Amino acid sequence: MRTAELPSGLRAGIDALLEGVSRNDLARRAALVSHNYRQGGASRKTILGSQDGLAYLLSRLPATYAAVMSALFHVKQSMPDFAPATLLDVGCGPGTAGWAACEVFPSLASAVFLDDSAIFRTLGKSLAADHPVLGQAPFQDCDLTSADSGLPSTDLVIASYALGELRQPPLGELWNAAQGVLLIVEPGTPAGYANIVRWRAMLLQQGAILAAPCPHHEPCPIDPPDWCHFAQRLPRRRDHMILKTATVRIEDEKFSYIAVARMPVTARPEGRLLLPPRLSPAGIACKTCTQGRIDTVTASKRDKPAFKALDRLRWGDGLDNC
Ligand SMILES: C[S@@+](CC[C@H](N)C(=O)[O-])C[C@H]1O[C@@H](n2cnc3c(N)ncnc32)[C@H](O)[C@@H]1O
Repeated sequence: MRTAELPSGLRAGIDALLEGVSRNDLARRAALVSHNYRQGGASRKTILGSQDGLAYLLSRLPATYAAVMSALFHVKQSMPDFAPATLLDVGCGPGTAGWAACEVFPSLASAVFLDDSAIFRTLGKSLAADHPVLGQAPFQDCDLTSADSGLPSTDLVIASYALGELRQPPLGELWNAAQGVLLIVEPGTPAGYANIVRWRAMLLQQGAILAAPCPHHEPCPIDPPDWCHFAQRLPRRRDHMILKTATVRIEDEKFSYIAVARMPVTARPEGRLLLPPRLSPAGIACKTCTQGRIDTVTASKRDKPAFKALDRLRWGDGLDNC
């Protein structure tokens, strides 16, 4: 996916919520919200009022949406027959992941959103109001730290930028709830990756099958301080640029993720690009994760078909997507 644009319904909903809101106040709040999240702060200490929630819609939602879109896109490539009907979005915030899931999986017919922030639930409900599927979805008050076995069985469970905020994420409960796929997305930082790689091991112990990004079930071959993460490009809207006092019309959201399945993953790629392809006068080189090890796949410029095939790939693509 080259760039991840918000669906028009979500854009319109955000515009409606921001109508008449002072951009100066928003800019101040957005700067604080972004700063707190960058420092690893939790939503509980960051989203303190409705203005903070609105600032999140402009400054973070487009990026978390882009990351979830990219991860789901790779899940779909690995599992072309997966057609979930039900969705559970935990730590849903304003319902970001639900919007992405409905774009990637038009089979979705119902959704449930869980969050303990009333500010986010109110925003999420309002944004989803006119959506044919999400408009019917409950936004339930739920503290995930006490979500023992009360989570509904669901085809697709997503936790996007949420579990890292919890001291003890209810991983077992989320996996029990997921009848098809569980997707967890975290910031693409060493700390985000450390969480993902720990949860990966725990899920594998419970019999989970890897759908993406890993092309294998071996221990992760990446050695710290290196970390596995990807980037998804997204356009910056005018409001967003003003808030961020940005001059560039795009941004790249870095994220780490893991998607695991209960059913066979029929089209898992042989390898995945861990960085963008590197061009040199001689040819092209791609750093990849393959069957439990890090490799460099190369093609010389003289070998035109091989060169072109690698040159078409982007960071995070499967090697078979050439
Ligand atoms: C960074 S926001 C991510 C929101 C949304 N998933 C997204 O990707 O844009 C983290 C979310 O996790 C929620 N959260 C954090 N701790 C929680 C808890 N103990 N129970 C329920 N939700 C929680 C926050 O309220 C917030 O909505």
